[in-house]
Amino acid sequence: MFETLSAPAPDKIFRLTGQFAADPRPDKVDLLVGIYKTAEGRTPVMGAVKQAEARILETQETKSYVSFEGDRAFIGAMRDLILGDAVPSARVAGVAAVGGTSALRQVLELVRTLRPAARVWVSDPSWPIHAAMVDHIGLARGTYRYLDRAANALDRAGMLADLSGVAPGDVIVLHGCCHNPTGADLDLGDWAEVAALCNRTGAIPLVDMAYQGFGDGLDEDAAGVRLLAREVPTVFVAASCSKTFGLYRDRAGVALIVTSEGAVAAAQGQLTAMNRNNFSFPPDHGARVVQTILTDAGLRALWEEELNSMRETMVQNRRALAEALRVETGSDRFGFLAAHRGMFSLIGASTKEVDILREKHGVYLVGDGRMNVAGLRASVIPKVARALAEVLA
Ligand SMILES: Cc1ncc(COP(=O)(O)O)c(C=O)c1O
Repeated sequence: MFETLSAPAPDKIFRLTGQFAADPRPDKVDLLVGIYKTAEGRTPVMGAVKQAEARILETQETKSYVSFEGDRAFIGAMRDLILGDAVPSARVAGVAAVGGTSALRQVLELVRTLRPAARVWVSDPSWPIHAAMVDHIGLARGTYRYLDRAANALDRAGMLADLSGVAPGDVIVLHGCCHNPTGADLDLGDWAEVAALCNRTGAIPLVDMAYQGFGDGLDEDAAGVRLLAREVPTVFVAASCSKTFGLYRDRAGVALIVTSEGAVAAAQGQLTAMNRNNFSFPPDHGARVVQTILTDAGLRALWEEELNSMRETMVQNRRALAEALRVETGSDRFGFLAAHRGMFSLIGASTKEVDILREKHGVYLVGDGRMNVAGLRASVIPKVARALAEVLA
């Protein structure tokens, strides 16, 4: 069966991560994969997670199946974290999934089942899995402009012009906050425009929420999705707990559908059946950790403190690098780094320049010039700034 096939190309980022590990230079800098790192370059288990796990270890009496939809308390806690009181909980269906990636997959498969002719619109650029997944499951895909590359800021007019071509039932993939890879987000006025566009055209927004709390704060980062939930009749949400709870390998996430109260049972049934058909039961450990943290005042306060500290580190890294680059280049060309939010920014480097940064300076970026600002630390910022200024001169 496989004799005539060749293996698909290995994931670019993970190939470069292997190359980084094998690089003997002591001052190499890893700005590749979207993982939060401390100043010491570690990704430790969060304190709130450790404590929740200790509690679970102490009190859990069975590892028996939970349910096809996952733990209701986890789904409810995530719904409240994301949607706040934007809509009554009776209007929200939800299932636990295998991290944020599978939450997206469950929603997109549902779209394929119910609306096979729908086109799914993905920003250019976006997290590469968005386009790859839409193509993989065989839905039609549209692309909308997102980044004004000259200004390194949101291309509002381009985005709205391209999205004006959506058809009823099409799906628009939006990053809830901390857009990956650009770091350029919609402001509330933009979210309102997107809501109006969905209402005018009958398109359905699918909000990918992978970084809530990494941008400006838990509520601030959810303001866009909450606005959509209030104003658009049907909204899909795919959320990940990987980054903000540091639960990368435990695979916790939720797929939510905001709909009318009368339709919520049908939406819930469809999502639950999708889980059953794809993996029966979603993983429980990470979900239980998240639910334990979100529903306990002490653990939640500790988690928020840790989350705030991660956010502040990223904001500080952004400011420090922008400032170092201002000094190196004598210009504000990289000022956008301080204005962007979240883990990533695109620094506008060509593939060749990315290769030179890696080979000559030991500064590792993804091929399209995406930088993980969480991989920076005070001690390497001057070196990174010098390398960027020299190579991108
Ligand atoms: C934009 C975006 N969405 C979703 C995810 C999914 O994360 P996970 O499947 O690890 O929860 C990521 C992870 O990098 C992401 O960047």
